[in-house]
Amino acid sequence: MRYRRMPIEAESPEEFGYDRIRCNLAESSVSDASLALLGTDLGDLLLQYGDHRGLPALREHIASDGPGLEADDILVTAGAAGALFLVATTLLQEGDHLVVVRPNYATNIETPRAIGAEIAFVDLAFEDGWRIDPDRLAAAVTDRTRLVSITVPHNPTGRGMDEPDLRAIVAACEARGVTLLVDETYREMRFGGPLPVAASLSERAISVSSLSKTYGLPGIRTGWVACRDRDLVERLLAAKEQVSITGSIVDETIALRARRMRDAWLPGILAGIEERLGVVRDWVAAEDLVEWVEPDGGVVCFPRIRGDVDVDTAAFHRILLDDHATIVGPGRWFERPDAYMRIGYGWPARERLVEGLVNVSAAIRKARR
Ligand SMILES: Cc1ncc(COP(=O)(O)O)c(C=O)c1O
Repeated sequence: MRYRRMPIEAESPEEFGYDRIRCNLAESSVSDASLALLGTDLGDLLLQYGDHRGLPALREHIASDGPGLEADDILVTAGAAGALFLVATTLLQEGDHLVVVRPNYATNIETPRAIGAEIAFVDLAFEDGWRIDPDRLAAAVTDRTRLVSITVPHNPTGRGMDEPDLRAIVAACEARGVTLLVDETYREMRFGGPLPVAASLSERAISVSSLSKTYGLPGIRTGWVACRDRDLVERLLAAKEQVSITGSIVDETIALRARRMRDAWLPGILAGIEERLGVVRDWVAAEDLVEWVEPDGGVVCFPRIRGDVDVDTAAFHRILLDDHATIVGPGRWFERPDAYMRIGYGWPARERLVEGLVNVSAAIRKARR
């Protein structure tokens, strides 16, 4: 494995220092929740090794997301990031061929790269509304392809797909005998209701998700893999045991509590996201130097400075941070030019979001040539 730090992590707000940022528009979750909000009393919790697959009640709860899924189809992991790592290192070896959509959450690309796998990218385009076209994806599959990897709803664009497209991709992978990885970390934040859990549609599909984004709980590092291929789950478990034996019983206990609160909690979260999206929509409508594809899920969007505006984009991001203490996710985090920026609109307080967007407008103008 050839590891290197990913810019999205090395330059992340938490690594830069939360206290040095006034308007943090670089997060991809809703606001972080506190333990107090969950009302969890951990005083009696025995700090033992837990079930290696994850707390059984938690796995049962997660399995209830998809018809036909059972607790033993679920493996709890250290965040969705941990799940993606286990999947890539279990399924891929140096030289293996996989198909990955790009841009993407960096780990979906970087771990296969670190393994030395051969990546066929399906590059998404602003002009196509960032659509993942099932036919293009299928056309990239060869006889050597071991894995097709997509993220829905998508990070950084916040664009999803409709159910027929998802089913078409599942069917194409089944027909070619290829494993499909669907990063569903934003699944519950799809406007208009979530897509089916891909793992419930096919034994060939692996679903990955976590509590980090929708519930603002990245600090408990609890995610999961769902997969009905039990042999594969067993191999993923072997990988997990070599990394950490089991997950944190503290994290999993909190995660279970959060899952059980979901029905009462989620509607308010979704209403908050829609309200904040309205703030960004109003800003884009009034800002003639920027254009976007409006997201239909998640808490991020990926607007860009218009092509006919001559801007020093490196200076733009520097000025935004240095002069305005405001951070967005620069395009380079996603292997795109820095004229693109990921704006996370669900994390900051409303007034900081409004202020941050005003600062983006000001920084573009200062960096204009
Ligand atoms: C698409 C996607 N997958 C996975 C992750 C990893 O999240 P976590 O490990 O906190 O669950 C992220 C985080 O940004 C993400 O955006």
